[in-house]
Amino acid sequence: MSIHTKLNKWGFILCVVLVHCIEFGNGAKRKSWDGKLIFEENFNGERLGRNWEIVGNCEGKGHKDINLECFTTREDNVRLRDGILIIEAWPEVWHPKELWAKSKNFTSGKVRMTNDLGYRYGTFVIRARLSKGNHLLPSIYLLPAYQDHDNCKYEEVDIAQGRGQRTSTVIVGAYYGRQWNHTSSRKTEKAIRNTDFSAEFHEFALVWKQYRMEWFVDGRLIYTVPMYYYSDWLLEDESNLPCNMNKKLFQQELQLNFGLSVGGTMFPEAAYGDLTLENAKNWTKPSLEIDWVKIYDH
Ligand SMILES: *[C@@H]1O[C@H](CO)[C@@H](O)[C@H](O)[C@H]1NC(C)=O
Ligand SMILES: *[C@@H]1O[C@H](CO)[C@@H](O)[C@H](O)[C@H]1NC(C)=O
Ligand SMILES: *[C@@H]1O[C@H](CO)[C@@H](O)[C@H](O)[C@H]1NC(C)=O
Repeated sequence: MSIHTKLNKWGFILCVVLVHCIEFGNGAKRKSWDGKLIFEENFNGERLGRNWEIVGNCEGKGHKDINLECFTTREDNVRLRDGILIIEAWPEVWHPKELWAKSKNFTSGKVRMTNDLGYRYGTFVIRARLSKGNHLLPSIYLLPAYQDHDNCKYEEVDIAQGRGQRTSTVIVGAYYGRQWNHTSSRKTEKAIRNTDFSAEFHEFALVWKQYRMEWFVDGRLIYTVPMYYYSDWLLEDESNLPCNMNKKLFQQELQLNFGLSVGGTMFPEAAYGDLTLENAKNWTKPSLEIDWVKIYDH
């Protein structure tokens, strides 16, 4: 496919909305990233190395009971195969060990960097293949490295999220606030023509600078968010303001998380219907696959 066919519609939208359209107009797709490579993971071993932790719980991605899955640490849900990290969801009833926790009808997996890894600013590049199937939500995202729940501040950056019903779109953005459910956000869902994110691997990248974040897909800029004043990120009633001394916008160390959730707030019933164990038997690609990760320091 010529670069021009690829660019016409998508390039046009970008040029209308964004700043860097000249680069696109010249056909310049980024092939390399600035800075020094400070972290690289190819998932080539037999098992996940000491940089990663498999998370098992039934709490969803912060969304508690709204999500339909339990994350388990079993191979069925998280494993390495042929140099790929595979996170897979299954329709199956799961009874958590904790007596107070509810059973759920789906299992899936979540992997995060271990506690001692965190990065402030830099370029995060991940080669991944997303999922296909109703109510599947593959996520590649950043959360605070030191998950101190009393710090009264929540920041999340979604490098790439997919919706299993719409495999040609990618959702990217950032959340800032007091708690996971008390934030304001800048986010977008972009449809990329002639692309099925569940069919092939693609390169998703975030360039995080002190006053700006930029998101790329396959080397093309798709979204930019300036980050000068925390006051721009407050809800109308300012109720999401983090506590004293702790307001700075995206200046704490964040770390990578990979998860595949099922259902939740991204799939309002009015628009998406509900998901039953029966429907889920129709999932055609209930997995999130990660080929490699690279992080560059600026
Ligand atoms: C699990 O599935 C059953 C049968 O479809 C349903 O009645 C039940 O409400 C579901 N449980 C949850 C937690 O969604
Ligand atoms: C957010 O969730 C917590 C529990 O994690 C709850 O106590 C709190 O009331 C919720 N806040 C809002 C604004 O919904
Ligand atoms: C599963 O997919 C088939 C073919 O697309 C469709 O006819 C059927 O209604 C689906 N079943 C459920 C339970 O969604």
